[in-house]
Amino acid sequence: MAATTPALSQTDLQTWQSDGRPIPEVKDGLKYLVGGEIKEWGGTTQDIESCLFFAWNGGTVRPTLGPGAMLDPNESMAALAAAEKAWDEGRGEWPTMSTDQRIRAMEKFIERMVTVRDVVVERMMWEIGKTLKDSQNEFDRTVKYIEDTLKALKDMERDAARFSVETGFFAQIRRSPMGPTLCMGPYNYPLNETFATLIPAVVMGNPVISKLPRYGQLLNIPLLEAFAECFPPGVVNIISGRGNEIITPMIQSGRLSMLAFIGASKTADVLKSAHPHPHRFRSVLSLDAKNPAMILEDADMDVVIPQIIAGALGFNGQRCTALKMMFVHKSREQEFLTRLSEAVTALKAGHPWTPGVRVTPVADHRGAMKFLGGLIDEAVEMGSTIVNPGGGERVENYMHPAVVHNVSPKSQLYQVEQFGPVLPVNSFEKPEEVMKYIVESPFGQQVSVFGYDPKVIGPVIDVLVNQVSRINLNTQCQRGPDTFPFTGRKASAEGTLSVTDALKRFSLRSLVATDYDERNRDLVNGILSARSSNFLRTDFIF
Ligand code: G3H
Repeated sequence: MAATTPALSQTDLQTWQSDGRPIPEVKDGLKYLVGGEIKEWGGTTQDIESCLFFAWNGGTVRPTLGPGAMLDPNESMAALAAAEKAWDEGRGEWPTMSTDQRIRAMEKFIERMVTVRDVVVERMMWEIGKTLKDSQNEFDRTVKYIEDTLKALKDMERDAARFSVETGFFAQIRRSPMGPTLCMGPYNYPLNETFATLIPAVVMGNPVISKLPRYGQLLNIPLLEAFAECFPPGVVNIISGRGNEIITPMIQSGRLSMLAFIGASKTADVLKSAHPHPHRFRSVLSLDAKNPAMILEDADMDVVIPQIIAGALGFNGQRCTALKMMFVHKSREQEFLTRLSEAVTALKAGHPWTPGVRVTPVADHRGAMKFLGGLIDEAVEMGSTIVNPGGGERVENYMHPAVVHNVSPKSQLYQVEQFGPVLPVNSFEKPEEVMKYIVESPFGQQVSVFGYDPKVIGPVIDVLVNQVSRINLNTQCQRGPDTFPFTGRKASAEGTLSVTDALKRFSLRSLVATDYDERNRDLVNGILSARSSNFLRTDFIF
């Protein structure tokens, strides 16, 4: 099918006019948290611009939300020193505290956190363009994630309260913290995926330095007070600035025990290799992905189309789990293209707060359009066609979603993660062709398979289960529910994140063991009855 006339015009641009919603005036953007103290940054700042724009005087205008702190290496090293002090070689108040007390502190944090929901949600819309509904979901999902984390930790502690008895030994096995931990979340989930590592790391006893994402920095600031109030000084340190300036020296110092990073695999490589003793720098990484959809001959298009729309265009495709390459069986190709194109055309574009809106400007208003435009242009040069009306048309950092048909395997669009509203579609005749794509891909996160024939799908599962970490049958790829393991193979992840897995990843099983002997038995009983250890104890956690 040929590309049609661009659908976006000056008239469409009018839909971008502000509907009178006040632009948030952010006055706390210079605040950061180090050593339990909320500080005001007096050095270099950066004007944080909204990713939203408005029609104005025949052109467009982009509001500035306020200044953001761009800390320098001295200050990030101060944050590291604060975390080290809180750790105190494992002797600090927080790492030696009983899990029960840490849980109480985190429960208090939840109570404080929910009071700033509205301001966080508003800033999320203005900073990264996430729709109101999705911004609210991100906040609520994060609160639930913390609650589920505490519930899982209580279960783990209840199991750990008993002693293990084995061939003449008895032991108590419990999880203990790793040490100062650096957590970095991405801009597409600036709250949820900042907290997805910070919370389990902290509750397991690790002091944390959290570097806020490039976009989505301001929305985290209203939470600083809650962190400062609920945890001892230095346990949570929140900083912002350029990663290569403030993060590299911290890692090069060799004084960090753990890295939790959600972002690009190239950056992860740089971060990990900066440590002088990489084997001592444990990590949990959630990285790039190019999740394919395989639409088989007997797929139900009433199921497929809404799942592809949600999977490829949820938050404009800016999800690591997004469907980024669609393969449809040759016999259903035209039907799929027509219906997908119609569904894309029916999506409502606009401001994040506009009721029913599904597509918004992309969060990265500096470089993403050039990158995405380049992917489409190259694919078209190599023989692809844009199927839907106006697909790929751009106004500022808004791109009308593009269904790009017949993508050359030599093109970038076929190979790299687009992280935006571009839906490449190719056809296949045998499932082996799609499996070959997956086997040869540098990524290995998830896949969606649409169809209902057990004889076809059974063997496909058996191959794919060794290529990716989750196979979604007749549903889009996704991380949730957060109790499910979230991981990947190859360049997509290291370690597993989920409510329970994260608790394990940020801790080490340590044990106190002794052999059966009357004096040892009396010693252990004495410690338990005197309650002289926070580790060796049998309290039941409610
Ligand atoms: O960006 C990657 C996220 O982990 C995706 O999470 O599937 O819940 O949107 P999600």
